[in-house]
Amino acid sequence: MLHNFLHGASGTITPQSSRHSPEPDSDGMNTSNNTPPTTTITTVPTRPRKRIVVAITGATGALLGIKTLLALRALGNIETHLIMSKWAEATIKYETDYHPSNVRALADYTHNISDMAAPVSSGSFKTDGMIVVPCSMKTLAAIHAGFCDDLISRTADVMLKERRRLVLVVRETPLSEIHLRNMLEVTRAGAVIAPPVPAFYIKPGNVEDLIDQSVGRMLDLFGLDTEGFERWEGWKKE
Ligand SMILES: Cc1cc2nc3c(=O)[nH]c(=O)nc-3n(C[C@H](O)[C@H](O)[C@H](O)COP(=O)(O)O)c2cc1C
Repeated sequence: MLHNFLHGASGTITPQSSRHSPEPDSDGMNTSNNTPPTTTITTVPTRPRKRIVVAITGATGALLGIKTLLALRALGNIETHLIMSKWAEATIKYETDYHPSNVRALADYTHNISDMAAPVSSGSFKTDGMIVVPCSMKTLAAIHAGFCDDLISRTADVMLKERRRLVLVVRETPLSEIHLRNMLEVTRAGAVIAPPVPAFYIKPGNVEDLIDQSVGRMLDLFGLDTEGFERWEGWKKE
């Protein structure tokens, strides 16, 4: 039973995990062709191009997490697994027009933060990495200490031990020596610290522009191009 939870193929869910959107079309077959097939096609379960875990914690900047999910959805053929902390739900309600249930609906799978048997809690469940966006100092500290008492810190721990991409969009200011030390040490352990520091050279018209640029640069770290922001290409002639 537990084996099934931990080792299932794409689509496996645990009692506390849920799935929202259908698997994207993957076979690319032309169904309008009237000629009957002459060969038997065996369907081999294929994994989407990328499978990314998105965790949202209770640091301010809930919209960063929401826009990350939207960008991954827009890219297509990327399977997203979402974990939200209790305080993420509170900041989503306070800072945005979204309800946490609307945010969950943006992901392919959502996992309860207390569900330590969710597929993402095991290194044997293959993923292409995890982004914690925004990442609170509390979750940073838990990841730094390897203290896996919730699914976010456990999954981040898995990313580090499996040498997978782990991006922490840490958000706090000013930073204490404890914060800086934790960031340095998780970087040494393999994580990428990517604070949502805006690039003003894009001459943003509004906050959305700044967020799109930040999200675009974060997803660059997974080899994904949102094409949703202007890149620096040298001084522009007026
Ligand atoms: C409106 C609001 C904004 C917050 N902003 C931050 C922040 O920017 N950085 C941070 O580390 N914690 C911030 N916190 C505190 C965290 O929510 C708190 O430390 C919480 O325990 C984090 O838990 P989590 O990482 O499990 O979500 C904020 C809390 C609230 C209510």
